[in-house]
Amino acid sequence: LVLVVDFGAQYAQLIARRVREARVYSEIVPHTLPVAEMLARNPKAIILSGGPSSVYADGAPGIDTAIFTSGTPVFGMCYGFQLMASGLGGEVAHTGAREYGRTPVAVTTPGTLLAGIPEAHNVWMSHGDSVASAPAGFTVLASTDVTPVAAFEDVDRGLAGVQWHPEVLHSEHGQQVLEHFLHEIAGCRQTWTMVNIVEEQVERIRSQIGETGRAICALSGGVDSAVAAAIVQRAIGDRLTCVYVDHGMMRKGETEQVRRDFEEVFAALDVVDASDQFLDALAGVHDPEEKRKIIGREFIRTFEAAEVRVFGGLAAGSADDRATAWLVQGTLYPDVVESGGGAGTSTIKSHHNVGGLPDDLQFELVEPLRTLFKDEVRAVGEQLGLPSTMVWRQPFPGPGLGIRIIGEVTRERLDLLRDADAIAREELTRAGLDRDIWQMPVVLLADVRSVGVQGDGRTYGHPVVLRPVTSEDAMTADWARLPYDVMERISTRITNEVADINRVTVDITSKPPGTIEWE
Ligand code: XMP
Repeated sequence: LVLVVDFGAQYAQLIARRVREARVYSEIVPHTLPVAEMLARNPKAIILSGGPSSVYADGAPGIDTAIFTSGTPVFGMCYGFQLMASGLGGEVAHTGAREYGRTPVAVTTPGTLLAGIPEAHNVWMSHGDSVASAPAGFTVLASTDVTPVAAFEDVDRGLAGVQWHPEVLHSEHGQQVLEHFLHEIAGCRQTWTMVNIVEEQVERIRSQIGETGRAICALSGGVDSAVAAAIVQRAIGDRLTCVYVDHGMMRKGETEQVRRDFEEVFAALDVVDASDQFLDALAGVHDPEEKRKIIGREFIRTFEAAEVRVFGGLAAGSADDRATAWLVQGTLYPDVVESGGGAGTSTIKSHHNVGGLPDDLQFELVEPLRTLFKDEVRAVGEQLGLPSTMVWRQPFPGPGLGIRIIGEVTRERLDLLRDADAIAREELTRAGLDRDIWQMPVVLLADVRSVGVQGDGRTYGHPVVLRPVTSEDAMTADWARLPYDVMERISTRITNEVADINRVTVDITSKPPGTIEWE
């Protein structure tokens, strides 16, 4: 275990991922966690992240210098580097000379940390203060035009640091620097592999659920719930039941595809066709929030009915019954960190609301992906042999096409949108763009009509909007610059093949200010 101490910048999650790419397990802890508690977790090493502040600023977050003398190896990056320097008696100067962005760095003495790294290379910097002199016992390894001490190490004490951000891709050789610290200086073993993750989780879930407990999992069709369920199934076999609800707002062929894929993988699969129930409930509704509420409510009803079928209503029964009724959820590590629950803190909260399940449905939660990042979930999915259509499926919102029809959701409108969407997806796949594009909703402006001409006749149909975006985590997104010829094929085919759609437009709004979906 390596602990990444978060000083409040955006970088801690990225650092934690890079550590895991070096095959060493890492977790994020807030800088407010007492050093004694960090050490009590027995980390093999501790990394101090960058932060937004100057070490001299009022209220600048600090760290108990005991961390540097505990014998546990420590690596400081940027702000963390300055904390280490000042904490051990070096000098951090408020020189006024700043470095932001790509900066050339000169390796003067490679030492262990920078061994084999080119003397001149570019790194990503973001700092105002500089380390003017290293603490006693440290060897200075690198400098820049304005920073005399840009990297240092004291291998005997297991301490090292760099002024730059080795975790960002713009820093050349950044991963190598991090690995030199982890593997050479801190002596971390490379045990974080997908095989080990699966084995550990399976063991943990077996002891959690016990010999008789049973579990249920709502599969959405997406990768997270599928991988979570697959791990649990490996642990408890046919004591897991998966429920997939078809709410009638899936894309063309999707439920059949999901059924085919899932039937191969999951022994007990309950596919519930609840489309009439959902679409009847949505009749006459235009407001996006109201649509979402209705869809959420009907989902709960369907799931409760499935639970009664599968468990005989165990989850609402006595505490003893509940102890044998488990609910599998695909909560990921970023959700855990963002809800203030980095492991080791006292505020671990579960995302009870995934899938919008009500509080009075008192399941015990199993969350096999609680420690994993999205890319690791995909790797685990591949390790478990899940089909690649499942592992690499682009995100699709729970309410489905219901929030991509602007206006009332009807069966006819869903059919129109399904046809247009199928063409768009087919062309995107044909152009080999599936992994470059985060997702491309197709939105039907169902209450809008526009005049067109086709053959000799006037048409009066609906427009659709293509919404191709690139993103890393859906929190922010940019509109994707689709090649013109791909847009052209999509436009021609949709207007020719889908009666009633006579216009194709492209949304070129980033997020923010737009969201990815239109509702
Ligand atoms: P927005 O529209 O908020 O979407 O930019 C961000 C990401 O979340 C997906 N999304 C949803 N996923 N239930 C879901 O499971 C929802 O209600 C929902 N709304 C949006 C959206 O597709 C995008 O990937």
